[in-house]
Amino acid sequence: MVTLREIHCVPIMISSIDQIEVEALEGLKNSADKAALEQWRIAWLGSKGRLKSLMADMKTCPPEDRPAYGQRMNALKKTLEAAFKSQKSDDSAQQGPPLDVTEPGLPAGQGRQHILSRTIEEIIDVFSRMGFTVAEGPEVENEWYNFEALNMPETHPAREPSDNFFLEGGGMLRTQTSTVQIRVMEQSKPPLRIISPGRVYRPDTHDATHYSMFHQVEGLCVDRGVTLVDLKATLFNFARTFFGPEADLRMRPSFFPFTEPSAEVDMRMPVRGKMQWVELGGCGMVDPNVFKAVGYDPEEWTGFAFGLGIERIAMRKYGIPDIRWLFENDARFLRQF
Ligand code: DAH
Repeated sequence: MVTLREIHCVPIMISSIDQIEVEALEGLKNSADKAALEQWRIAWLGSKGRLKSLMADMKTCPPEDRPAYGQRMNALKKTLEAAFKSQKSDDSAQQGPPLDVTEPGLPAGQGRQHILSRTIEEIIDVFSRMGFTVAEGPEVENEWYNFEALNMPETHPAREPSDNFFLEGGGMLRTQTSTVQIRVMEQSKPPLRIISPGRVYRPDTHDATHYSMFHQVEGLCVDRGVTLVDLKATLFNFARTFFGPEADLRMRPSFFPFTEPSAEVDMRMPVRGKMQWVELGGCGMVDPNVFKAVGYDPEEWTGFAFGLGIERIAMRKYGIPDIRWLFENDARFLRQF
């Protein structure tokens, strides 16, 4: 005699496994936390779970249908195990480590000003207390501002292509901030007192003290009766305020086309604990030819000018031995300041 169960066994059971699979996966999806997941695992994959009892049901199948039933059951088992595994890893990823709300938070990473920007601000601060205002000029210049008006005629050796970045189609990158002296005087009437910090460019080979781009701060004071004493006093004041009361200053006769007389300024300051003379830049009394170029009457107006290297100032003040470090953007270096 054939039992009812045996007759319907295979078609009903194999198709009902599809149904069971849907039910199991649905249940898994709704297991929202660790405990629910574990319950689901016990109910479906556990040693007394649904899968085990479905396997046991195989006995009730006619022998010829058992392979098909077995295959479907194996597939079901694989599907459920894989689904369980993936949901469990999702779950632990989402939950992460237990949250301790009493933990102090991580400090917010604080950015900081680049040491050169800070040096420029400090320089501006000192000079503005002496009545200087800040003027700006373009980095892409023409030869009138970079040379001609500064009393550097066509034949001047500093105009060689090898010493300048000339641009295709005309113009050049300025090699000195002295260009701003001319721009300011062309646009305003004396008396005036300005400084102009900014970038300049020269085709130098990079080493510890040279870079093809660096910063200068230009100074210009024009008035009636300005003398070399005013120039020295201004630079002296700057040095003492910026570097400290022990700073000392000396001037060595030199030559610049745009000043007469001209001098090189050195500062005596502590370098690694020892007092040393350090070159700061150039200066002098504005050459009458420069006044003529901008339409000032050299009989009426007098002035002094100076140009200092900002990297050199920063390197001395903060003990930085290599100019390249200022431009490499290595956060480990920059963070120290
Ligand atoms: N422009 C000069 C340079 O780049 C520096 C300089 C010297 C500027 C004397 C001045 C000055 O204003 O009076 O080497």
